[in-house]
Amino acid sequence: MEILVTGGTGTLGRALVARLRADGHLPRVLSRRPGDGRIVGDLETGAGVPEAVRGVDTVVHAATRFGHDVPAAARLLKAARDADVRHLVFISIVGIDRVPYRYYRDKQRVERLIEDGGVPWTILRATQFHDLLAMLFGALSRSPVLPVLAGAPFQPVDVRDVADRLAALAVAEPAGRVPALAGPQIRPMADLARAWLHATGRHRLVLPVRAPGAFARAVRAGGLVAPSHADGRITFDEYLAARTSVRS
Ligand SMILES: NC(=O)c1ccc[n+]([C@@H]2O[C@H](COP(=O)([O-])OP(=O)(O)OC[C@H]3O[C@@H](n4cnc5c(N)ncnc54)[C@H](OP(=O)(O)O)[C@@H]3O)[C@@H](O)[C@H]2O)c1
Repeated sequence: MEILVTGGTGTLGRALVARLRADGHLPRVLSRRPGDGRIVGDLETGAGVPEAVRGVDTVVHAATRFGHDVPAAARLLKAARDADVRHLVFISIVGIDRVPYRYYRDKQRVERLIEDGGVPWTILRATQFHDLLAMLFGALSRSPVLPVLAGAPFQPVDVRDVADRLAALAVAEPAGRVPALAGPQIRPMADLARAWLHATGRHRLVLPVRAPGAFARAVRAGGLVAPSHADGRITFDEYLAARTSVRS
């Protein structure tokens, strides 16, 4: 089975490519830069995309760039249709219809494009990756105080769990919207920030802020969590412990 992974060099994509290889597949990886096992292509210009999808059975679409995802998906879909790709698997995000945010609005538009795109499809929504929270805390901890959204629950998931689910979906028949995948624990953002500080040996005052606005309100109301889909296995603490032990 020929599988193409867009975004196969990204945080999730790398885990997915590793999972597929461990399962005995030789996935093609679409990237803007050449490298081992990669096919060079750019979803923003369309260059290399028809060649990348030629002869492919399943495309897993995990490429993203803020502000560019809708036209990129349209280009990918056209190429996939023209090449008679049998299955397009898309990774989306839990709560994009509840939390007002430009990136999420684009994500909803991409979901609709895929649903109407003429290529049999599967859409999986996942919660925030552990890596995203770690990156966010890294950026927020540049000052002595680390501000977080007060009363905001998150349910981060590990990319290895998401990769396992995507790899299974990629080799199965197109399934439409499948149950979401969320992490094993729901925790306040402040709690996750303290765990990150502890694991990385940093000392900062975590400051919960009751931020105004529709985005913060929706996140506080649980817009980004999926309590009935807590099927991820790897906790944020386990993710942090593995990262720390790799560094030490
Ligand atoms: N981060 C989260 O918490 C989270 C949660 C749920 C779902 N998701 C979704 O999961 C997907 C992957 O997220 P991620 O965090 O793993 O992304 P990421 O690490 O930012 O990686 C982005 C990938 O997109 C590729 N890319 C960007 N622009 C491209 C272009 N014009 N043409 C071809 N490839 C392009 C990059 O490849 P090159 O640089 O090699 O070209 C890279 O592999 C996204 O759809 C995201 O919305 C993310």
